[in-house]
Amino acid sequence: MRYAHIVGWGCYLPEHVLTNDDLANIVETSHEWIYTRTGIRERRIAADKESTATLAFEAAARALAIANIPSPKVDLIIVATSTPEYIFPSTASQLQDYLGATRAGAFDLSAACSGFVYGLSMAANAIASGSIDVALVVGAETMSRVLDWQDRGTCILFGDGAGAVVLRGSDVPGGVLASTLRSDGSGSNLLSLPNLSRNPVPIYGTTYANGHHKQTVHMNGRQVFRFATKVISDSIEDVLEKANLSMDDVSLIIPHQANVRIVETAAKRLNVSVERFFLNVDRAGNTSAASIPIALCDAIQNGRLQRDDHIVFVGFGGGLTWASAVIKWDVTPPEVTALRRNLRRARYVFARARTRILRLGRQFVAWVGGSPTPEARLKDADKKTTLPKSKIDDDHES
Ligand code: ACO
Repeated sequence: MRYAHIVGWGCYLPEHVLTNDDLANIVETSHEWIYTRTGIRERRIAADKESTATLAFEAAARALAIANIPSPKVDLIIVATSTPEYIFPSTASQLQDYLGATRAGAFDLSAACSGFVYGLSMAANAIASGSIDVALVVGAETMSRVLDWQDRGTCILFGDGAGAVVLRGSDVPGGVLASTLRSDGSGSNLLSLPNLSRNPVPIYGTTYANGHHKQTVHMNGRQVFRFATKVISDSIEDVLEKANLSMDDVSLIIPHQANVRIVETAAKRLNVSVERFFLNVDRAGNTSAASIPIALCDAIQNGRLQRDDHIVFVGFGGGLTWASAVIKWDVTPPEVTALRRNLRRARYVFARARTRILRLGRQFVAWVGGSPTPEARLKDADKKTTLPKSKIDDDHES
């Protein structure tokens, strides 16, 4: 029997702080309104040169340093995100390249704010099955890039950031003890971020238009509030039952950091003190899939986790989705010397150089073989293609 233990953690928040007072200069709102309704004081906003992949890299590099595991030993990289730079390639593949994790499989996971717990569960199960030994699970978001900055109902809530954990297989019982994943797609209209396939494009001169969908976050705040308070308590009770534990066994609950009032209401439903929940939403805002691993780092830094504690992660969000995991915290991180830290940084510089060399090599092989560049291929295809006259064009003309 293999057990998936968390052996490393890391997080990264961009430098730029956006306070509630700053927001009051953008939309009609106030610090008082935002703070009393959500508990948020400030959030971080990614710099122009940063992206979801670069934030993910910073968090992942820190997590691997604590785990003291070189990146080529990673078997699987899962990045939970709703704000990838590309639909494909995945952010996870970009991260695999930045880290030089040359033996890792990599994919993105879309489960909105529940994504990190979904990813943790997938990776822990892969380790328990014996198919892999080391997994990197990351939550990373640049929510600031998908907000309507004129919609005061949503733009005040979110922030940018990334968090990561390293899971490693061991014969010692512990680590991720149980997880539960759930979804209710009937609530998909309550919280959404439309993408390209919701935006019809002209084909052969005809637009298959069925309405314009802006690619920004849409939310029914009140309904999401109701959903969240219910599923937090249900999901925690489910996962504890699965792990054969009770609420009394749990030292700390790290919920998705959406809103202090949601957590207070859920704590009442569970009949536990709100102190049992760790919250840092006041400083980071809602960073969607990144919020739980960022809060984990903060909780560790604040001395809220002791060896052999049982802790619970609970995520909830768009989909609708929700998920919980219960973990036995049995970590003694190794000392990371300055030499090891520097060697690790050098490895990442080498990984970037390797990518450049591989790309140049592909270009050279194409040039020697006389293959056209991708741009020339496209131009050529344009010249050769005689488009069939579409049935819909005919219908329009008649
Ligand atoms: N500043 C000032 N006034 C505002 C703001 C704002 N930023 N936003 C809305 N208002 C106004 C509205 O226009 C409305 O005014 P009206 O009464 O004159 O029409 C009034 O405040 C009440 O609006 P509601 O939307 O009903 O406000 P509510 O009390 O529900 O609070 C909030 C809104 C904070 C979003 C709340 O619904 C909430 O916490 N929902 C949970 C959603 C959440 O946290 N989502 C996070 C993403 S999902 C996830 O991570 C799971």
